[in-house]
Amino acid sequence: MRSILVVNPKGGCGKTTIATNLATYYSVWDMPTALVDLDPQQSSMDWLRIRPKDENPIQGFNGLKGKIYPEPDTQRVIYDCPARTDSKKVARLIALVDVVIIPVMPSAIDMRVAASFIADIVGKVKATNSTAIMGVVANRTQKNYHSYSALIDFLKALDIPFVGALRNSQNYVKAADSGVGIFEMSMSETQADMKEWKPLIAWVEGKRVLK
Ligand SMILES: Nc1ncnc2c1ncn2[C@@H]1O[C@H](COP(=O)(O)OP(=O)(O)O)[C@@H](O)[C@H]1O
Ligand SMILES: [Mg+2]
Repeated sequence: MRSILVVNPKGGCGKTTIATNLATYYSVWDMPTALVDLDPQQSSMDWLRIRPKDENPIQGFNGLKGKIYPEPDTQRVIYDCPARTDSKKVARLIALVDVVIIPVMPSAIDMRVAASFIADIVGKVKATNSTAIMGVVANRTQKNYHSYSALIDFLKALDIPFVGALRNSQNYVKAADSGVGIFEMSMSETQADMKEWKPLIAWVEGKRVLK
């Protein structure tokens, strides 16, 4: 079983979007998947509640209610974190997972918050015996946007690798509104988005990412 934590203390950077879409990627491939919502707002669980019955099921857990019990054949567990998680708590969570995804949006405020969070977290994680791989994903990128190149420079300068970029796309908004992920929507609409997930998923699955 491989477990993935999606975390960043900044709200609105795409944690729930990445957690739910990644869950649908695995469910499309018939891999039993659990989604654990650690956010009191329970947005991932709200999304699961509106999930169409004809899509492959994803197990949902309110992670704030104590121990979770995924089905024995579960292959992937995805944790969706709240904003403002304190870094000690995050370090403890990181010690329990295999993969940590940190989504960052291309704005000066978001980059500053992410930089201080990452600096804080890297030291704390090193103090544990964690073998988790950690990577940053640029989210809601717009290539012609002035902050994009600043974001890329910022990401390359971090201690943590830059493992993917997801464009700003209404497909994520549509998916969130209908309980699905982009992998379950019409290919003709989502091809550009799906392509961006390829290197990210390869990295999550422990494969080498070629840049
Ligand atoms: N790549 C994207 N393109 C367009 N909208 C996005 C994208 N990522 C996230 N959003 C939207 O931004 C809002 C906040 O994203 P969300 O995943 O809920 O953030 P978080 O869980 O970090 O608070 C949501 O309305 C979501 O649909
Ligand atoms: Mg969220």
